[in-house]
Amino acid sequence: MLRTILMATSVTLSVLVGEAQVSLRKVNIIPEPVHIAQTVGEFMINRSTIIRVADKELLPSAFYLSDYINHYLGYPLSVEKRERKAESILLINKNNGEVSGGYQLTITPQGIEVHGNDAAGVFYGIQTVIQLLPTRAGILPILPAVTITDYPRFAYRGMHLDVVRHFFPVAFIKKYIDYLALHKMNYFHWHLTDDQAWRIEMKCRPELTLRGSLREGEIEGLYPGLYKPLPYGGYYTHEQVKEVIAYAKDRQVTIIPEIDIPGHCMAVLATYPEFSTTPDEPKKTALTWGIFNKYNNVLAPTPAVFDFLREVFSELSDLFPGQYIHVGGDECAKRWWQESELTQQFMKTHGLVDEKALQSYFIDFVKQVINEKGKTLIGWDEILEGGVSKDCVVMNWRKPAYGKKAIKAGHRTIMTSSAWSYFNLKESRTQPEIGPRGPLPLEKVYAYEIVPDSLTTVQESFVWGAQGCLWTEYVPTTWKAEFALFPRLSALAENVWSPVNKKSWERFASKMEIQFERFELWGARYSESFFRTQDVVRQR
Ligand code: ACM
Repeated sequence: MLRTILMATSVTLSVLVGEAQVSLRKVNIIPEPVHIAQTVGEFMINRSTIIRVADKELLPSAFYLSDYINHYLGYPLSVEKRERKAESILLINKNNGEVSGGYQLTITPQGIEVHGNDAAGVFYGIQTVIQLLPTRAGILPILPAVTITDYPRFAYRGMHLDVVRHFFPVAFIKKYIDYLALHKMNYFHWHLTDDQAWRIEMKCRPELTLRGSLREGEIEGLYPGLYKPLPYGGYYTHEQVKEVIAYAKDRQVTIIPEIDIPGHCMAVLATYPEFSTTPDEPKKTALTWGIFNKYNNVLAPTPAVFDFLREVFSELSDLFPGQYIHVGGDECAKRWWQESELTQQFMKTHGLVDEKALQSYFIDFVKQVINEKGKTLIGWDEILEGGVSKDCVVMNWRKPAYGKKAIKAGHRTIMTSSAWSYFNLKESRTQPEIGPRGPLPLEKVYAYEIVPDSLTTVQESFVWGAQGCLWTEYVPTTWKAEFALFPRLSALAENVWSPVNKKSWERFASKMEIQFERFELWGARYSESFFRTQDVVRQR
């Protein structure tokens, strides 16, 4: 039988106040906060409402909120650096050393107060205020009286974007970071290099973008598809990268840049064929997708290659202020090393027992370079194969069993197992819009168990958090990127922020109608598969 759930946009809650039964407006906050206490009353933002901050460190957050309210609702609120409570939105950083990102939000008829444990907490309190605003322009911004206590379940809440297979302009990267911030996500993993391109300017090696950022064409349609000879290129300059970093900082988002080595390197080898195990053969940036053992070479262990790695990872470490540098390390085709006499000789000289150990040698080399710059290395879970130092962070993209192995070995681990968190998988079987793989429905993203089972409490503490990934082989436009992202980012955000005892698919599903209105308010494209697969009818 067809199950039809009508999702009302103005659901009310009924509470007893003294003798009287009173209706309160249901709040729809994603991710679900730790604790919400609603009371009678409301506060209306009006044109004379002022956003006040006690210290200037919070000014970017105050301007962020005033920009949001002005942009989406048309109320230009001013910002003042002075603490006065009545009729205002007051932002305070308690700097109390408690959980980073935690906050308390109080709304009364007299005003709004956000008390953050730190600046991130104030920013997330603002995000919750935003979620209490109308989801359509033209409706008065009346917020319900409420006290919310909230803090994140995991310290790492990430989202990745592959800008190699398809390139996205700076304006979209900023928009993407905004989408993360609106979901209280705090890391943006920027996949900058791969077989198909090198997409970040290197002052030490200008030829990397001169040659390596271009490809002659690509396949049209699903792999193997038909070859389309349309030149394709693009890269980010240092100035653009700095602009994005500053933008992200104001939104409490840290950027993790990834340069993928020693495999996924055809863009490097198109620039420097001599860095491969077949130095005399000319090479091209890849024109199609996949690993292609047969065609794609990898870095050879030569002095010139190690010089190269030292230079680019040093420059990357200097450019990005964040603590973490991602070295890739995934899907390195070992056959090239097996077939190369010089490589085998190198392995013998350095006591490397097999190609996995050679891979570890590369990873460890980069680790030393970035450690000298005070940075910490992150790599995909293959970095475990030949052994890797305990202070490296492991990003688990294959089965959760690999994540579990990393956790048990004492590595801080980010869970992004592809079956639950690769948003390039289409959302439903009948959805032709993105790529061949899937389905990965919203409900499955929500159900992802971030902490693997049967771990001790100490082991569980190594689960740093989770991440969604968006690989863009079949995502050539910003339209498709948003379509792949929404609404699944919302499910991931709640999964990685809200406490386990607040995890409820039914409650989350009941908040979706309002969340889709937010997507519309933001002008974001989204997939409606959820409404089809749940037999849920949208009220529009
Ligand atoms: C990956 O999907 N190869 C990390």
